[in-house]
Amino acid sequence: MIIKTLSEIKSSEITKETHFKNRRKLIKAAAASTAGLLLPDISQAAKAYINVPIGKYSATLGVTDFEDAANYTNYYEFTTNKTDSTVLARGLKTTPWSVTIEGEAEKTGTFQLEDILKNNLLEERIYRFRCVEAWSMVVPWIGFSLGKMLKQFKPTSKAKYVEFTTLYDPDIMIGQRSKVLHWPYVEGLRMDEAMHPLAFMATGMYDDILPNQNGAPLRLVVPWKYGFKSIKAIVKIRFTEKMPLTAWNRSAPNEYGFYANVNPNVSHPRWSQSRERILGASIFTPKRQTEIFNGYGAHVAKLYAGMNLSKSI
Ligand code: MTE
Repeated sequence: MIIKTLSEIKSSEITKETHFKNRRKLIKAAAASTAGLLLPDISQAAKAYINVPIGKYSATLGVTDFEDAANYTNYYEFTTNKTDSTVLARGLKTTPWSVTIEGEAEKTGTFQLEDILKNNLLEERIYRFRCVEAWSMVVPWIGFSLGKMLKQFKPTSKAKYVEFTTLYDPDIMIGQRSKVLHWPYVEGLRMDEAMHPLAFMATGMYDDILPNQNGAPLRLVVPWKYGFKSIKAIVKIRFTEKMPLTAWNRSAPNEYGFYANVNPNVSHPRWSQSRERILGASIFTPKRQTEIFNGYGAHVAKLYAGMNLSKSI
């Protein structure tokens, strides 16, 4: 797995962990000093995200600067560029929010996000995250185990896959007015992938609720796969017998396979996947070698035993 101690990581890979720690102190101080006062909703919500226990799958790694992780994003519902969704996504209303559960499960229906949150233990996971466009970052996510959440809906034996869908609202999500992708954004996992303890649902990052541009109020985080699997602003989860047709498979099947496991040995048709740029590092910092399964192979390789990973991309 990617668990490396700080001494095993080159200093160039350590992107301002002190900044993250300082920010954490600042949030705690702000929360303490305003305790008892009437706070705006956002601060109240953020307070719940401070001091969540670090999950056992978290790695000791250099954490990417919050400003980099929050301002260099991929969110095609708003824009195809990496910087403007910070502003464009501000208009997205994330409360109240509900998630509809459909398909091969005993418990289906529409559930308020607050109720889902009440039933799931919040924890922090510090995960390496690798984007198909060849940059990587390390983000302290806050959320809960995907598998544990899914089990609460009692999937039937017919449930072989799970499909996730993003909100469709072209009035606010102005990128949905273009045909750059098939809307709404859909992603999927095989059931055993979804049940793997590393698969995570995030509602926060860096001790705070998720910024809108990073997928608030609920997104998937699958650390051993390319970032496009980690779907944002989820409104629907459907258990299916057949492999879901994902937005990227529909739009560019030869470029984005269903599995999307990080694999430095398989080039994307338009670029090599063997190396990655560390988000926030200086331009003089050499790129790092991409690791198979993004460094999580010891945990997840067994899910793909017997599969040809240069075909099942
Ligand atoms: N989810 C939705 N709904 N729309 C998107 O455009 N982009 C994906 C993924 N989830 C995307 C999405 C891609 S390509 C990446 S790399 C990650 O989100 C980026 O996550 P980040 O912006 O929080 O870094």
